[in-house]
Amino acid sequence: MTRKATATTATSRSPPSGPELAILKLIAVLGATRSPVVLTSREVGERIGISQQSADRHLVALEAQGFLVRQLAARRQRLTLLAPATEHLRREYQSYRRIFEGPAVMRFTGTVQSGLGEGRYYLSQPGYMVQFSERLGYSPYPGTLNVGVPPEALARVGTVRGWTGIRIDGFQATGRTFGGATCYRARLAGRACHAIVPDRTHHEGVVEFIAAERLRDTLVLKDGDAIQAEVEEG
Ligand code: CDP
Repeated sequence: MTRKATATTATSRSPPSGPELAILKLIAVLGATRSPVVLTSREVGERIGISQQSADRHLVALEAQGFLVRQLAARRQRLTLLAPATEHLRREYQSYRRIFEGPAVMRFTGTVQSGLGEGRYYLSQPGYMVQFSERLGYSPYPGTLNVGVPPEALARVGTVRGWTGIRIDGFQATGRTFGGATCYRARLAGRACHAIVPDRTHHEGVVEFIAAERLRDTLVLKDGDAIQAEVEEG
């Protein structure tokens, strides 16, 4: 029963807006991301300026969509936020952060590494090349420069995945599927380039960079060299 309900809601869930977003924000501010908060539907309604009946209806809808759980007691209810609600609020937060603070910049000092020569193969695919020249404004050198991320910067580097950037779409060619990726304006040792983050990646500890030129030549780099990397939100 529970499993079936989850399966149905996962497909039918749409981003909450209006009073439903206001309810999620209210109970998150009261601490429901950490522990349940106790509120009547009337209190919820009063706090966001809608009737008790409307508040109740929206709470039922939010629960049905898997954004929160209501545990009903005598006249009160314990409200717990679920992960999809927190994720949605985080996206809202990113928008506001951007409005008031401008695009985020993530910096780390990494180490130049060699990969398995896959970058050259992928970047040479016409399906990617066309998109790079249209969306980045240049044809990249066929390859990616791999920069290893030190353990202390892993969490910071991970936040980039939640940012908007320049989309590169996946496609089918020669009987196989090539995945999509997101590019972000970047700098390596002050030199303008792009970070490319594949939708599916197996190594989280590496950030790949592309540029019009071969960066190893321009920046005189060899494996093991430390390098300053800067990635900008799109
Ligand atoms: O062998 P690996 O997977 O590291 O490299 P690749 O993606 O096939 O790229 C070929 C070589 O060019 C590697 O040594 C990269 O580090 C380097 N490269 C570069 O210096 N500048 C770029 N813009 C792209 C790749």
